Amino acid sequence: MRLPLSLLASLLVAAPLAAADGRGLAPLGPAEKVARMPQGAQVTCADGARVTVSILAADLVRVRTVFAGQPDEPDHSWAIARTDWPPPPWQLAETTDALTLTTAELKVVIHRSPLRIDFLDAATGRVINADQRPMARDAKTGRVAAAKRLGFDEHFYGLGEKAAPLDRRRGEFTMWNSDTPGYVEGTDPIYQSIPFYLGWENGRAYGLFYDNSHRARFDLGHTGQEAAVYEAEGGVLDYYFYAGPSMKKILGRYTELTGRMPLPPLWALGHQQSRYSYYPAAMVEEVARQYRARDLPLDVLYLDIHYMDDYRVFTWDRSRFPDPSALTKTLGDQGVKLVTIIDPGVKYQPPTDGRANRPGEPLSPHPELAPQADSYYVFNQGLAHDFFLRRQDGSLHLPEVWPGKSVFVDFTREDARRWWGGLHRALTDHGVAGIWTDMNEPSDFVDKSGASQKDVVFDDLGTHSLYGKNRNVFALNMARATYEGLQRLQPDRRPFVITRAGYAGIQRYSTMWTGDNNATFASLALNIPMFASLGLSGETFVGADVPGFIGRGDGELLARSYELACFVPLLRNHGAVDMYDHEPWRYGAPYEDIVRKYLKLRYRLLPFLYTTLEEAHRTGVPLFRPLLLNFQDDASLLNLDDEFMIGDALLVAPVVRAAERGREVYLPRGRWYDFWTAAPLAGGTMQRVDAPLDHLPLYVRGGSIVPSTDSMNHTGEKPWSPLRFDVYPDEQGNATGSLYEDDGASPAYLRGESRRTAVSCTRAGAATTVTIAAPLGPYRTAARHYELTLHAQPAGTTVLLDGRPLPEISSPSTAPGWHRPDARTVVVRLADDGRAHEIQFR
Ligand code: GLC
Repeated sequence: MRLPLSLLASLLVAAPLAAADGRGLAPLGPAEKVARMPQGAQVTCADGARVTVSILAADLVRVRTVFAGQPDEPDHSWAIARTDWPPPPWQLAETTDALTLTTAELKVVIHRSPLRIDFLDAATGRVINADQRPMARDAKTGRVAAAKRLGFDEHFYGLGEKAAPLDRRRGEFTMWNSDTPGYVEGTDPIYQSIPFYLGWENGRAYGLFYDNSHRARFDLGHTGQEAAVYEAEGGVLDYYFYAGPSMKKILGRYTELTGRMPLPPLWALGHQQSRYSYYPAAMVEEVARQYRARDLPLDVLYLDIHYMDDYRVFTWDRSRFPDPSALTKTLGDQGVKLVTIIDPGVKYQPPTDGRANRPGEPLSPHPELAPQADSYYVFNQGLAHDFFLRRQDGSLHLPEVWPGKSVFVDFTREDARRWWGGLHRALTDHGVAGIWTDMNEPSDFVDKSGASQKDVVFDDLGTHSLYGKNRNVFALNMARATYEGLQRLQPDRRPFVITRAGYAGIQRYSTMWTGDNNATFASLALNIPMFASLGLSGETFVGADVPGFIGRGDGELLARSYELACFVPLLRNHGAVDMYDHEPWRYGAPYEDIVRKYLKLRYRLLPFLYTTLEEAHRTGVPLFRPLLLNFQDDASLLNLDDEFMIGDALLVAPVVRAAERGREVYLPRGRWYDFWTAAPLAGGTMQRVDAPLDHLPLYVRGGSIVPSTDSMNHTGEKPWSPLRFDVYPDEQGNATGSLYEDDGASPAYLRGESRRTAVSCTRAGAATTVTIAAPLGPYRTAARHYELTLHAQPAGTTVLLDGRPLPEISSPSTAPGWHRPDARTVVVRLADDGRAHEIQFR
């Protein structure tokens, strides 16, 4: 058989490259010496390069390469949350050609010459991933590169926030946090940089995390089909390889390494309303009043930049907000929290009266309420402590943002982070409940790309590194300062932070939104691959401006946006300064009614959403999922960009195109149910469904048990009572589900103050048994009833509770008993008395 030349070429491993390639990249030399290390091995190359391979877990290996002539850096990354891994067993074997490190799951083969690393499945010997050519560096520019062999049917996922389709194959992506208002599909880079991706081939996945904060580029089959290439403009080449093959397992490990999302307060799952900007205070109060008068759910209102005194962070404009505490009290009485924006730009304002307040000098207890025109306390303090970024020549770095000429804080300094965190007292003292950190790429109106800022110096743990290394982690460290500040100021409350920019690990400190999107259907459609990819990159608490920040969407866009956003963790309506108002009532009927319908649904499903969120917190598996994550071997899902799942149970197929009143829906194999009618459906097919403007195609996966409660207008309005469990049996008649509860506000859940209730359903012959297990954990809920609905239950007349017949009752009723609302459904009412119960249907 003769192979085509091109194919032959791609199958052959590249020959050793003695010298730099056309682009200046020189491969590292062949292996010369091998030293056994406590956690693996260090290979020293003929040219002096050092490759350290560390076994962190049976399925997690780190490769860190310092090239010949490259200055080593302290081994530190702002992204990493965990380094204290219990050492897994491993062995090292050497032959003349290679050395091999073997764990229970992985074989890492390091070929000596040319030096290439292969990752194999320890059990089967299958090559999971392999270097296509040796790692390389350009000594002139400091650029470092890795190239992994590209599989014929390999697909890529993750890479964080990208305005791109779900499958990253054939794409090229840059990591450089950028302020990109009005971005569209294809705009790259945008706000965040998460250099982590999952590779998928034939149903099996692996993960690669290139932990290097310099500007970087991924070429995943864009310029050639031989290699998946990674290049960073500086720093050491430092990556983590995750064995898989399960995507969920990789996400678990990735979020163990970079940290998991702490649970936000329950109210963060509520509906949030923002605008650029609401002022004065009376306007904010009127928005809340309208919400309540119109029976529309709302948990949060936002203050954008106009609440500050001339854009000075940590101050209040007293003419617009004479009494901030009174405002938060008025809102609080209606169950509405207030979140305020904080930008990194501190107005550059040397005091005009020559009197700066010095560190240690007593300030008025509330300097944020005092006039700042002559002397601005935040600038004075930061300057006195020398917390602001400077250029190499010692001059202040003076970007221009909202206040005009400004300064930025060096968030790599622990003392600066502490100071910044403490400044939030200016907001929390007045009852502000959360902080919105914006413009933290960091954006500079004069130079958005950062090109003229190369000589800005960061302390960076005393290494005094430059802008190129620090821009991508600026937001991460700012979010950390904010989160830790809120923790110190209010130790009994869970911090709520929302950020625009970020780097790997940002989920430890902040929720995020996707910046200045457009009020268009194209932008709405992009939400799905964006949120799904963020979830595949460790970020669960994500959302986008509803119905879009820039432009003037219409009522149809508003309605369709809410149908989708109803299932997105961060549900926030926001819009630009010059855009139409778009609170739900602004477009009149029928749009307001449609928004109400989906907001009410959202609040009904709070028990399910919160349970799924806690799972993400505990396991790293996101709430908003591409279908592929739940059906990893189904190749029809590789680039499915217009459906998503919430947890394991709900499949959402929103209409994301204008004027469409129906769509194709793909349901993976197995049994499904139409959420609205509970009619069973067979999966494994594409189906055409009607979707009039007020209809969201929504499905439940057979085998699920979905907890819910009565709707409410804010998350704190009433307890979850009654607590409903909807049981949707699979083809065998089985189902499982659970409910997670805690106080929803304090960090006590981290000490185990929670309550977990497992529910299961099994069928044996003609009998179906649902078991509600005794709740686990010390957290107590108020007295309430369970309402259990068994769907797809053929006719039967006997229901037993713990072995004793239950009476048939008429609905609605508060007494224990059962009734049949229709021929397919049985509803059972019983008291939640904290004990296990068994309900039998015959
Ligand atoms: C940025 C933010 C936007 C905000 C505006 C004013 O554009 O992305 O959400 O409204 O700044 O603060």
